Amino acid sequence: MASKNKKDPSVRNLKIRRTILAVPGSNPKMIEKARSLKVDAIFLDLEDAVAPLAKVEARQIVITELNNDGFGERIKTVRINDLSTEWAKDDLTEIMLGAGNQLDCIMLPKTRTVKDVNWLDKRLTKLEKQIGKEVGSTGIEVQIEDALGLINVEQIANSSARIETIVLGPGDLMANLNMKTLVVGQQPQGYTEGDAYHYIMMKLLVAARAFNKQVIDGPYFQIKDSAGLELTSKRSAALGFDGKWVIHPDQIEIVNEVFSPLQADYDHAELILDAYNFYTSESGGKSGAVMFNGEMIDEASRKMALVIAGKGRAAGLQRTKTFSEGM
Ligand code: COA
Ligand code: MG
Repeated sequence: MASKNKKDPSVRNLKIRRTILAVPGSNPKMIEKARSLKVDAIFLDLEDAVAPLAKVEARQIVITELNNDGFGERIKTVRINDLSTEWAKDDLTEIMLGAGNQLDCIMLPKTRTVKDVNWLDKRLTKLEKQIGKEVGSTGIEVQIEDALGLINVEQIANSSARIETIVLGPGDLMANLNMKTLVVGQQPQGYTEGDAYHYIMMKLLVAARAFNKQVIDGPYFQIKDSAGLELTSKRSAALGFDGKWVIHPDQIEIVNEVFSPLQADYDHAELILDAYNFYTSESGGKSGAVMFNGEMIDEASRKMALVIAGKGRAAGLQRTKTFSEGM
């Protein structure tokens, strides 16, 4: 949980986010169901999944459900409405005052500038003080959903230590760019070669990696099309994305699978962690950088290995190799 790791901002990065389930904040039945689904993270939505007339009421539902808890180890986020709306400020205030202590992150849709993040950051600090929550312990997830957000994404990624994820908002972004896409997550009609989203995804990935954030792929709307979901998930996983949204229980297994490490990579990561622990210890020589199995490992390798090992453990993988000195 974010609250335990204040001193090392990069520790935020180590949370496992293969599957992030979108759940309408106005729907207690789906929120109840979410408690039993095998996802790494859940976000209760006050934005697009909630109709304007249900927005105010949804805040209270979200507060009640967060206080009822039962979400286990899953990361808990609330997506507020975007800053241009009449709801954003009250969403944030009411959710934080009502259930801020139960919450890991706030998601800000349609993030466009550093100013947007600064506004949220400052308000969170104020609200955390009001509810006696450790200052800085509420993370921020930013959604990039238009051209301005995209050109500012490097500065946005570096604008607050609270930021945990950069999230692609594909539907709004394609509409804003005037891409001829009818189905969110699929290639635009007439685009027959390559991947029309490559530049966008690479830009988000690089911005996230430069500032030690996670980068998350958005939803695939064709719930019945599991082959399409698998294809698009594999594409972002191959680039280096950490995980992907899911909007329906039927999408969870595929996305968990695609974003889980292979057995060989999982074994390798656990061995690196063991080797690093051993060689930096008293008996191993206390070195910072060491040779292991023909590769140099150091603190950076340990961090990467922690993420892969964490994903493997979450996926229920079992080690098939054990560490011994001189491997
Ligand atoms: N979270 C939790 N439970 C969900 C769910 C979700 N996102 N989507 C569906 N379910 C549940 C249903 O309640 C139903 O539960 P039950 O079997 O206990 O009755 C079960 O899964 C099967 O659902 P199904 O009947 O196939 O779908 P639906 O017609 O109820 O819902 C959607 C379809 C698209 C409306 C729904 O999946 C949804 O609201 N998804 C999230 C949308 C969202 O958050 N959008 C904003 C971000 S992109
Ligand atoms: Mg959107």
